[in-house]
Amino acid sequence: MQTKWKIRPGSLRFQLFSFLGALLLILLLLLNIYPYVSARDAVYQEKHRAMQSQGSTLSSAIAGLDRPDRESISEILRLLDMQGYDRLTVYDVSGMQVYDHREGGTQSISGEDIGLALSGKTVFRSALKEDGFSTSYIIPVSTKGVITGALYLHETDAERGKIISDLQNQIRTVSIVITVATLAVAGLYLSVVIHKLQSLSDSMRIVAGGDYSHRMVTWGKDELSELGNEFNMLTERLDDTERQRRRFVSDASHELKTPLASIRLLSDSIVQNEGMDMETVREFVNDIGSEAERLQRTTEKLLDLSRLDDDVHVMPEPVDVKQVAVDALVLLRPLADERNVRIRCELEEGCVIMATVDDVFHIIFNLMENAIKYNVPEGSVHLELHGTEDEVQFTVTDTGIGIPENESYNIFGRFYRVDKARSREAGGSGLGLSIVHDAVKAHGGSIIVGQNKPQGSVFSVTFPRPSADETGI
Ligand SMILES: Nc1ncnc2c1ncn2[C@@H]1O[C@H](COP(=O)(O)OP(=O)(O)OP(=O)(O)O)[C@@H](O)[C@H]1O
Ligand SMILES: [Mg+2]
Repeated sequence: MQTKWKIRPGSLRFQLFSFLGALLLILLLLLNIYPYVSARDAVYQEKHRAMQSQGSTLSSAIAGLDRPDRESISEILRLLDMQGYDRLTVYDVSGMQVYDHREGGTQSISGEDIGLALSGKTVFRSALKEDGFSTSYIIPVSTKGVITGALYLHETDAERGKIISDLQNQIRTVSIVITVATLAVAGLYLSVVIHKLQSLSDSMRIVAGGDYSHRMVTWGKDELSELGNEFNMLTERLDDTERQRRRFVSDASHELKTPLASIRLLSDSIVQNEGMDMETVREFVNDIGSEAERLQRTTEKLLDLSRLDDDVHVMPEPVDVKQVAVDALVLLRPLADERNVRIRCELEEGCVIMATVDDVFHIIFNLMENAIKYNVPEGSVHLELHGTEDEVQFTVTDTGIGIPENESYNIFGRFYRVDKARSREAGGSGLGLSIVHDAVKAHGGSIIVGQNKPQGSVFSVTFPRPSADETGI
């Protein structure tokens, strides 16, 4: 796995190193060139100014001579006290040397420069060489506007040359130190970043392979660590969902297995008992019918749940809750009569919400069915529907067996029953309240359950009241 993160073209490490390398190169080039060029130019300008002033003084003095020969020029130089030049040469108008003073050095004079000076131009040349700053200046010597010769001056400034080359060496050393330090720090930092990315990628691969219990080890507070924490949270949710899915499949199989086993047992008994009397056969067939009915109810509820799970957004429409409640009550009346439970209703007109008729029906039907099923003989159920400016609320209150407070969260879980034996006996599969819960959430509502004093339960469902624009009413 480690090999994946080696420096190869296109890899993150390669891109970051290339970028950093290019940036460093530009910075170092600027650092090396700019101070050197500025220092050198400053020396050039200073030399130019000095030579210009001394050159013109000297050339005027020479121009004033009647006969510019060796002795008279030496005398002028002595009088002017000009020092520091390692070559000083004077030419006559024909370009012949009249005076030449040398103090070591190998500098030579270009014939072209002499020609330029004799034609009235001044030439200044300066260069940093190994032995120092080599500067030359050649100017015409003229008397009353007539060129009578040329003066050449040359100076080698070893001291300034050394300062500049020392500066250059120091900058070079600093550059090397900066390069090494930057690359070392960047390499270290990149290793940490890439290590974090690598563990994220490894973790993703492990989780993608199906191990939802895997958690990535994160440290630090940077964005990559946050990404790792987010990934762990995501994996945790996946793990939860997967656990719920497995539990659901096992619960569903169990729920379907029980009535199927009863059907099998009852039918086997009929087949194997040839002499069974008609009365018993009818009783057994009746039981088979009840079990099949239970199977049908469970599968229908499972289908309702899977439809709500699928998140297929059926377009919500304006639903008149009172109308749906009346329809549900018609179907529930026989059950209430059978259980000897009285139903009382207070239904306000004009309570419209945005949902689907099916979902609202499921909510009211399941809550009312429970209120009747888990009631006591001579008990009662009260359905109340009313609306405020912002909300529509309906409440189902019963005088039944009640729900222990610590169970009020669990009852919305799939296949959950408080009293398993009683609920099963009542034909319940433990799915009704899950459907209610999912349907309420699907349309932006909320549901709470509480105790009805002195006995029974209260379920309250609240939906936001839609605006006139939404309902189009
Ligand atoms: N009004 C109520 N009073 C007392 N207990 C209730 C009431 N409503 C629900 N319960 C308890 O909550 C459990 C879950 O209810 P739910 O409606 O989900 O399932 P069920 O009624 O058992 O089966 P199903 O509705 O799928 O036929 C019930 O088994 C019951 O124990
Ligand atoms: Mg129910």
